[in-house]
Amino acid sequence: MPDSRVARSNALYARALELIPGGTQLVSRRPTRFANGVSPVYAVRGKGARIWDLDGNEYIDWATGILAIILGYCDPVVDEAVVEQIHRGVNFSINSDVEVELAEELIRTIPCAEMVRYTKGGGDACTVAVRIARGATGRDKILFCGYHGWHDWYLAANLGADAALNAHLFPGIEPIGVPKALAGTSIPFPYDDIPALESLLEKHRGEVAAVMMEPFRSELPPAGYLDEVARLAKQAGAVLIFDEVSTGLRFGMGGAQQFAGVVPDMAVYAKSMSNGYAFGAVVGRRAVMEQAGRMFISSTYWSDAIGLRAALTTIRELRRRKVAEQIADFGRRLQSAVNSVAIETGCPVRCAGLIQYPQLQFQCDDGALKSQIVTLYIQEMARRGCHGYASFGLNAAQGEAEFEQTLAAVREVFQLITRALEKKILHEVLQATPQQEVFRRLVN
Ligand SMILES: Cc1ncc(COP(=O)(O)O)c(C=O)c1O
Repeated sequence: MPDSRVARSNALYARALELIPGGTQLVSRRPTRFANGVSPVYAVRGKGARIWDLDGNEYIDWATGILAIILGYCDPVVDEAVVEQIHRGVNFSINSDVEVELAEELIRTIPCAEMVRYTKGGGDACTVAVRIARGATGRDKILFCGYHGWHDWYLAANLGADAALNAHLFPGIEPIGVPKALAGTSIPFPYDDIPALESLLEKHRGEVAAVMMEPFRSELPPAGYLDEVARLAKQAGAVLIFDEVSTGLRFGMGGAQQFAGVVPDMAVYAKSMSNGYAFGAVVGRRAVMEQAGRMFISSTYWSDAIGLRAALTTIRELRRRKVAEQIADFGRRLQSAVNSVAIETGCPVRCAGLIQYPQLQFQCDDGALKSQIVTLYIQEMARRGCHGYASFGLNAAQGEAEFEQTLAAVREVFQLITRALEKKILHEVLQATPQQEVFRRLVN
């Protein structure tokens, strides 16, 4: 049953469904991913840690722009630099000098970066990386683990084996529109399973251009795992690519690769690297990257100076404000406080995962009931001014006010869930339709 608090959002979404196939541009922004009918659908403004919806409601945004925001919405320093750039011009018939300044900054910052290319988003950046790896090795096949965007090379995994992406993305993705001739060119491998990767590399010996993976997401990689992946990729003559689009620089200035202590051949970034402005980067060792100079990898808006300026300023601000340390401190406190509230209220939930990206794990063996519990959590948090999934996406604008408001909301919502479970009335208090399959990843 739709909530009158978000009547304008819901009405506009009904209209969008008639005009925009699928309703939204990004699957993760579909209302069915939150508490459909109760969660806000459209935002009209954002500032710091908060967003305001079309109906005038204010929320702390714990989805933090689907991880694209790291300093906070409308960060004054980044926005001032962008506005200044806009006044000077953003897309010329010759190149922007910011391209070279940013390249130097990225090379100073990220361990594997010796040369760089730019794009406008994460999926694009992954696709450029795959092209470079294929071109550099003269091979076609990609072994991958995790989510890497919407492009043909990735969705090709579901041609023939239509469940290949189930564990990496979510079940039921039909590769409609992806050329059937690509069948067999992209092959998933399971996370934390060295024998499986080894046997795939053996089976496709001499054919694998790249091993591409999210090195981790919200759990530490098992000790030695990524080193072994790197060793196997090297032995097979394949390029190792880390997809750091979602982790970004939250784990430190050297990215996930420095945090994990394993340096790949290439890495891709987007999202929070530019605090929400459209931008993506492909970085890597010179020997692989320079091969791109003889390939056709070219697009007008990749030189657009808004994303370049936003990325350059964001990286410098992350370093200056020591944001990774701040996020770790905040996440540690939040995780421990939420766990105390879980114990205090008797709610069957644990706030787990890395402190940089705390996750709520509701303990329930019944999949359908668990999905209802998660949706009820999202629904009731939204009503208390906290928008998001059952996790906490952190950014530097979250402070004491957000901490206190969220903890108070969590306490009430955990109490409500505990009561609803005890009295077996969860379906009665659940106003939203249960959340559809969450954006599942095989990697932690
Ligand atoms: C790890 C990873 N790679 C690639 C992408 C795709 O990025 P974009 O949505 O900017 O195309 C995402 C987006 O969520 C991601 O999390």
